[in-house]
Amino acid sequence: MSKGKILLTGAAGYIGSHTWVELCQAGYEVVGVDNFYNSERDVVERIGKILGREVLFEEADCSDLQAFGKVFEKHPDIVGAVHFAACKAVGESIDKPLMYYRNNIVSLLNLITLMTEKAKAANIVFSSSCTVYGQPDEDHLPIAEDAPLKRSLSPYGKSKQMAEEILSDSVIAFPHLKVCALRYFNPIGAHPSALIGELPRGVPQNLVPFVTQTAAGIRDHLNVFGDDYNTPDGSCIRDYIYVVDLAKAHVKAIDKLVGETEVHPVEETDEPTYVDAAKTGRWYIYNLGTGRGLSVLELVHGFMKATGVNLPYEIAPRRHGDIEQVWADPHKAERELGWKADTPIEDVLRSAWNWQKTL
Ligand code: NAD
Ligand code: WQD
Repeated sequence: MSKGKILLTGAAGYIGSHTWVELCQAGYEVVGVDNFYNSERDVVERIGKILGREVLFEEADCSDLQAFGKVFEKHPDIVGAVHFAACKAVGESIDKPLMYYRNNIVSLLNLITLMTEKAKAANIVFSSSCTVYGQPDEDHLPIAEDAPLKRSLSPYGKSKQMAEEILSDSVIAFPHLKVCALRYFNPIGAHPSALIGELPRGVPQNLVPFVTQTAAGIRDHLNVFGDDYNTPDGSCIRDYIYVVDLAKAHVKAIDKLVGETEVHPVEETDEPTYVDAAKTGRWYIYNLGTGRGLSVLELVHGFMKATGVNLPYEIAPRRHGDIEQVWADPHKAERELGWKADTPIEDVLRSAWNWQKTL
């Protein structure tokens, strides 16, 4: 028997597709929604292939309230949503701020409206990002959820900060709404089946797709952006998390929200209440990372060791806007969700390479 119907927006995308598989394998019925703005149609078929059965999919644009609303008319039994649908390229967001705010914010407003008005239960898991922390002060590393948020340096990052504000205000206003915001660090790798993975359009901006394309001979070398940072080998440090481990955290988050029967309404008073959303007991934030920082050079050498493939690279100037170092304190997710990212980095890098070889 199904554990309940879950709506997955951005389901054909990189993280969405991996989460689709994990949610179905955990016993949920999933309705995927995507407008294929940044993904390929055949991902839906590939999900079916991995699962060995047909999947439920509705093509719709989440920023179009009417079109998105039709999904809820067709599926009135939705008990939770995982909201991935968004534009995600930091650089592009600086050139096209309105497109980013329109897509990322309007889609979220529509989701909250429809989940609170039309769904059977209003549980939302939201894709946030470590980008909300900006460059953390050194004494805040590894970074925990209660660290101060710095002013974001891009419309993309600001859209994630705004989204968290919108969601936490909504939790206060709607006593039946429960939300879990997941702050991802750097997702990498691909499904062990090599049927789904990251599909960058054009020249990849992120490190691992650039690494695998260089190893495949599509790019002649990798530029390592900066070796003069204040880190042990001079290159930047990040927390690279396996996308399948990340996908599994969404199952835990949905289990938590859907499984909790008790709701905690804000205490009723004559005056409108505006309190800290966390006090409602229906607003959760978790970092999703490994808790280990890896430098760019460590990742480059780790890739060569794990795959046995040569990776030509050159040290290049720093990339504008890069954060020197950031990695997660993931203990809250471990304590409260019972989740931990434990796939060894060699296996993760090999999965990225196996996926690249299919492209
Ligand atoms: P992705 O681009 O691969 O997937 C997003 C999917 O959403 C795509 O399939 C796209 O077609 C779809 N989409 C976009 N706008 C839509 C709309 N209006 N209606 C319907 N579908 C729409 O990106 P991803 O890497 O899988 O990221 C998923 C989420 O996680 C995003 O919200 C992103 O901001 C967030 N995130 C990603 C990373 C990362 O490094 N990949 C890190 C932190 C947070
Ligand atoms: C990682 C490291 C680069 C490419 C971005 C977003 C962030 C989040 C995750 C969504 C950096 C270095 C890269 C290359 C390199 N996404 N690099 N050569 O910048 O940590 O984060 O993705 O929420 O918001 O900003 O990831 O993969 O671009 O870079 O040396 O060709 O690799 O300088 O140190 P980043 P990234």
